[in-house]
Amino acid sequence: MTFTWFGPIPRVMIPDPELVKEVLSNKFGHFGKQSSRIAKLLAEGVVSHEGEKWAKHRRILNPAFHHEKIKRMLPVFSTCCAETITKWENSMPSEGSFEVDVWPEFQNLTGDVISRTAFGSSYQEGMKIFQLQGELAERLVQSFQTIFIPGYWFLPTKNNRRMREIDREIRKTLREIIRKREKAIKDGKTNNDDLLGLLQESNMNESKGNAKLGLSTEDVIEECKLFYFAGMETTSVLLTWTLIVLSLHPEWQERAREEVRNHFVRAKPDFDSLSRLKTVTMILYEVLRLYPPATFIVRRTYKEMELGSIRYPAGVNLLLPILFIHHDPEIWGKDASEFNPARFADGVSNASKL
Ligand code: HEM
Repeated sequence: MTFTWFGPIPRVMIPDPELVKEVLSNKFGHFGKQSSRIAKLLAEGVVSHEGEKWAKHRRILNPAFHHEKIKRMLPVFSTCCAETITKWENSMPSEGSFEVDVWPEFQNLTGDVISRTAFGSSYQEGMKIFQLQGELAERLVQSFQTIFIPGYWFLPTKNNRRMREIDREIRKTLREIIRKREKAIKDGKTNNDDLLGLLQESNMNESKGNAKLGLSTEDVIEECKLFYFAGMETTSVLLTWTLIVLSLHPEWQERAREEVRNHFVRAKPDFDSLSRLKTVTMILYEVLRLYPPATFIVRRTYKEMELGSIRYPAGVNLLLPILFIHHDPEIWGKDASEFNPARFADGVSNASKL
């Protein structure tokens, strides 16, 4: 357990998984989410809401992520992957080896997938958002030290001005996509197969003509920004580490290849057979354990709270260290820092000593 200052905010790291569960289950509603200026700029939406507001947003979002709907998006995943692989194959020299920097390749792949699955017919505008969000994230990283200086964000520095401009541009583009789509729905000209269409359909069903019961256009904009932010970087980090560890462990690479060959010898991947890929799933779980794309989660105490026989005052940051917990030998055994997908042979719940 450690204590640090995060700018002016006291922050305590909670490494005990039982206490982490207690914080996340938030039974009494006293462990809240920590909003920040960065989060506001990148994406708010359901991930930053709490209580009634969170429940309402989740209720409206859930139908869009139903597995029957995701099944219909599979051809899009397949097309995007095939395009990436064809690009790599075409870059191959007829002899010798060839190097690919997979990180930007996977960022493009996941950006492409999310643009098509979220905005289907407005794909071009979706790609524009993807590029703008990439630039925004880069600029935020560059100015990371300054975000805790009170008032700094309001200074008209070149970087701040550009970040605000990007934010306005993203919102404007999304507002136009949403308006266009609303009109198409009214004219009966859309098939609602992408995330935005499904979200709008679900929103209309929920609000039943009473706007207060549904999400506003600004709410929908935030959820769309969240699809990009939550879905893209995370997935490309996972894919990049997967290729790295598979290149370091050719025996697992061969086992995964063999399994894929056995399942998809003739057919294209479909939803049900993908969920039967046991070795590939074990590998992905192990990569998520060793290199979790979200390395920590933060919550904060709303009022004085007791946790693990320590009393915390209101306003304390609680850092839930996913990365640390995933590497703890007391939880995973002596080989905690090694790549061993076999630990997931009997599923997630049997992989650790918890
Ligand atoms: C390997 C991939 C991913 C990882 C590791 C990951 C990780 C996480 C984590 C740790 C949270 C909890 C954040 C918190 O409560 O503070 C979260 C929430 C969320 N993620 Fe992901 N995510 C991944 C992929 C995706 C994708 C593909 C999407 C959608 C396109 C997505 C959408 C969301 C949403 C909407 C939430 C908020 C849920 C809620 O608060 O009810 N994520 N994710």
